[in-house]
Amino acid sequence: MSGADWLADAVLYEIYPQSFADSDGDGIGDLPGVIAHLNYVASLGVDAIWFNPCFASPFVDAGYDVSDYLRIAPRYGTNDDLVRLVDAARARGIRVILDLVAGHTSVEHAWFQHELNASGPDPLGDRYVWCEEPPAAGWGSDLAGTPAWVRSPGPRPGYYLKNFFDAQPALNFGWTEVDPAEPWRDGTDAPGPRRNVESLKEILAFWLDRGVAGFRVDMAFSLVKGYDGEAAQRRSAAIWREIRDWLDVSYPGTVLIPEGREPRTGQRLAFDADFLLVIYGEHASLFDNGGAGLLPFHPQRPAYFDADGAGSTDLFVGAWEAIQADDPGRLVLLSSADHDFDRLCCGPRTAEQLGAALTFLLTWGTVPCLYYGDEIGMRYVPGSPDVEGAVCNPTYNRAGCRTPMQWDRSANAGFSTAEPDRLYLPIDPDPERPTVADQEDDPASTLALVRRLTALRRQVPALRTRSTTEVLHASYPFVYRRGGTHVVAVNPRREPATAQVISIDTAEVLVAQGLRLSADTLALDGFGYAVLAVRTTAAD
Ligand code: NOJ
Repeated sequence: MSGADWLADAVLYEIYPQSFADSDGDGIGDLPGVIAHLNYVASLGVDAIWFNPCFASPFVDAGYDVSDYLRIAPRYGTNDDLVRLVDAARARGIRVILDLVAGHTSVEHAWFQHELNASGPDPLGDRYVWCEEPPAAGWGSDLAGTPAWVRSPGPRPGYYLKNFFDAQPALNFGWTEVDPAEPWRDGTDAPGPRRNVESLKEILAFWLDRGVAGFRVDMAFSLVKGYDGEAAQRRSAAIWREIRDWLDVSYPGTVLIPEGREPRTGQRLAFDADFLLVIYGEHASLFDNGGAGLLPFHPQRPAYFDADGAGSTDLFVGAWEAIQADDPGRLVLLSSADHDFDRLCCGPRTAEQLGAALTFLLTWGTVPCLYYGDEIGMRYVPGSPDVEGAVCNPTYNRAGCRTPMQWDRSANAGFSTAEPDRLYLPIDPDPERPTVADQEDDPASTLALVRRLTALRRQVPALRTRSTTEVLHASYPFVYRRGGTHVVAVNPRREPATAQVISIDTAEVLVAQGLRLSADTLALDGFGYAVLAVRTTAAD
């Protein structure tokens, strides 16, 4: 089976390892904690877990600064724990996907320390990009707006190029243009870049040999640098095609998911899917109500899934249809939220509004990815403290979506036995915060709805990715038909909404809240949703 085959039918679950379950009482989540909760994860009806990086790291950027790719961070456990986790998950039909930070390391990585302590270029080729003086034109900046070249703390003289924070030196995968005036720009076939590509393969092989199913690749398309950003992305994609060719022979079926959209180069695609990220406008137009602060990435616009009903699905549907038109059958991942921004329950959005959004997420033709805690409606916690690089700038705080999982009403919401001040991040202080225990046996809960929808998606191929998706009514309610046999309608706004789209006498109601069917009119109360099996075509 190719990786894309199982991914097409999958529901993913993103676990931020710091915040899921702490088994040893140090205040930080760990792999044995995840193992202890695998029955819960399985009960969600998900098929794969995506873990944020869990490798050795000084955690300047929450683990996206790796100091040893081949070692699980001691705070999460051991490499053997990861193997135990993979085996225990497989026994429940769940695959494990790790996060590969391909474009940069920590300054503490042995590769960087080696070059930092040298007096000049490595005769085998530099793994990082070093220059004597930064080019006058400058080169990019991070989200905090700081320069991309960092003065070397020595002994090596000059500056190194970083990718994100100063403590994340960019690995050298070469440049699209070489220029004798700027000798630090290696071509992509120079020894340093080639060493790094070969090292990526070794890292992948190491973890694939331990049973993982694939990788989400951080900053996948900025490996190669260049003053022409699009050309650089295309060259980065070429590296991934090389890696895909090697995987197809050595580890067939490995799933590769990029951070973002794979550039179209006219060549075959290396990744199994595109990821419509939270920071992209399409995702934002559905869910982002500004509750996590303003991002520099996209203009603020009303979110479709907000109560005032001022948003639109057009941007999202347009992007999704464009991908399908260019690459029929291409898988597209859509997440409820992720570790870099907000949550589904964010800003003014309340728990009662989540049903419509989750119904959409789990019945559209994309591959759904649930962010841990969204299945119980955990909220983005404003004002959470800056931990491990969570606050990128004064208006962009990622900590609020990284707070500990809320298991029950015991101390620390059942996340940890540590003193509260030792927790990775404070628990949501709201006394009414949702918990798994409270929702476990409540058929009206968000958790019950998620389980119902994932079960339905498993039973009904028409609700997965390999069947057609036709929009029957844009705006409110948003109504679409899947596979010719099922109709989904969601009304995330506060006011009721109606659409004349379906002959009701042939409908079987599979999931519904606030649904009223009469003649050929489908009406949904405010915050309503419905999944219907239909036997007739939609009305005009
Ligand atoms: C994207 C990751 O999702 C984010 O958390 C990280 O800070 C940057 N890449 C840098 O690795």
